[in-house]
Amino acid sequence: MRSGRVVLSSLTLASAVTLAQARQPAASTLAVAGAKATITYLEARPVIEALHDVLPSDLASKTPPQLESLWSAWVSRRNGEIRARLERGDEDSVVNFWLYGTTFTKLPRATERDLSALADQANPADIVQRRLEDLIAALAVPGGDERLRFARQVVERHGLDPSTSAGREGLRRYLIDARRRIVGEFQAYDRTVQSALKSDPNAGVTAYATIFRDRGLSADTSLLPDYGIERALEAIRSQGTLGAGSVRRIGIVGPGLDFTNKADGYDFYPQQTIQPFAVIDSLVRHGLAKPDDVRVTTFDLSPRINEHLEAAHQRARLGAPYVVQLPMNKDEPWASDLVTYWRRFGDRIGGGTKAAPPPAGAGNVGVRAVRVRPQFVLATTPLDLNIVLERLDLPGDERFDLIVATNILVYYDLFEQALALANVSRMLRPGGVFLANNAAFPTAPMKPSAGYLQVVYSDRQHDHMFWYQHE
Ligand SMILES: C[S@@+](CC[C@H](N)C(=O)[O-])C[C@H]1O[C@@H](n2cnc3c(N)ncnc32)[C@H](O)[C@@H]1O
Repeated sequence: MRSGRVVLSSLTLASAVTLAQARQPAASTLAVAGAKATITYLEARPVIEALHDVLPSDLASKTPPQLESLWSAWVSRRNGEIRARLERGDEDSVVNFWLYGTTFTKLPRATERDLSALADQANPADIVQRRLEDLIAALAVPGGDERLRFARQVVERHGLDPSTSAGREGLRRYLIDARRRIVGEFQAYDRTVQSALKSDPNAGVTAYATIFRDRGLSADTSLLPDYGIERALEAIRSQGTLGAGSVRRIGIVGPGLDFTNKADGYDFYPQQTIQPFAVIDSLVRHGLAKPDDVRVTTFDLSPRINEHLEAAHQRARLGAPYVVQLPMNKDEPWASDLVTYWRRFGDRIGGGTKAAPPPAGAGNVGVRAVRVRPQFVLATTPLDLNIVLERLDLPGDERFDLIVATNILVYYDLFEQALALANVSRMLRPGGVFLANNAAFPTAPMKPSAGYLQVVYSDRQHDHMFWYQHE
């Protein structure tokens, strides 16, 4: 895994880079304070020195003058390579949609739990195969369904046309290969963690810290990390690391888009982002922020997410709220505190509204829905930015009090994680906090760890929250 090179299943890396460039969004119409800048060699040098043993192969064993002269070309090439990983993340989303979607088929979801519950009546492989045929049929006539239209765009970028029989045959092979690749990746992740645990029973967190470093960049999200953030902010408040009412400017790296998030996700409501609103809700609940005085900037390299947030912003200007649907699989033994969080989610930023009705195939799922008031959508500004290599240059009084990044650093190796932290630190005010569900390697001006919390989601799922403070 560690030395594994990115292998794109059907695209060469070069053509994927071109595709990623072609998918760059039109410049945002929303203004943010400060200008976007890439990390310079001088800014990266402390990270390069601290992590000289784990530098990428194209930087390792170079002298400082060589590094300085190749740095800006390296950054620009790497920026294209990182953005090209979105393509494979999109492919993973289409496979999740095939296995777990409920809107294009009447068949049960192909989660481990659902399939084993049906083991007496149906063959799991048969369900997976019939789901594939239902998806292919739906992709031929996507109509106005946004997930089908997105999935169709993904397959069309691979030259596959679901409306012809040759295209459908190609699509079948393409999706089966993509699923095989994903299964293989997860088996490899398991082996990595198991072998780390064999040598040290406490090595699990470290092994997980970079586990997706070669994987496609997924956009997906769910409510779970937001519960982790809620608990961490509660701890940060009681520690006094951030004072009452002291959080006004918030950065959210990688807010995500709930498409059909692995086995936890559903597709029976419009695509949505949750984290920007969840963070405001939690900050207000814990007295860290005042509802009339918060501003959120989201940083994401996915045009899809940035465009989604920008469209929400445009609608909010006309007075429209943003509706968040909160599905909860009732068969999962969730922690009772998580269920309490789910019940009160949004009470500081909006109110309850009619939930989307789950189709029969969705199984035993409860749904709540929250209307987020337009003022909080207008307080949220999306920006295209690759946190590994880019940042905003901000005047002192515009720097962030809090920057959050969950389920992002895990997609990078230790060196790129440390570069990301260097970019984050330049955007934080003195005393500002970076909160993530990954351990990071802070270099000055970030102080060593300010806090850690283990968060239990259910009998089977938990998370680790870490926070770091600017001097
Ligand atoms: C798996 S999703 C996580 C979403 C959400 N934070 C959560 O925890 O559920 C990863 C998000 O990070 C974004 N992302 C990945 N790498 C990034 C980078 N280098 N810079 C900015 N955003 C990035 C993805 O586009 C996506 O929105």
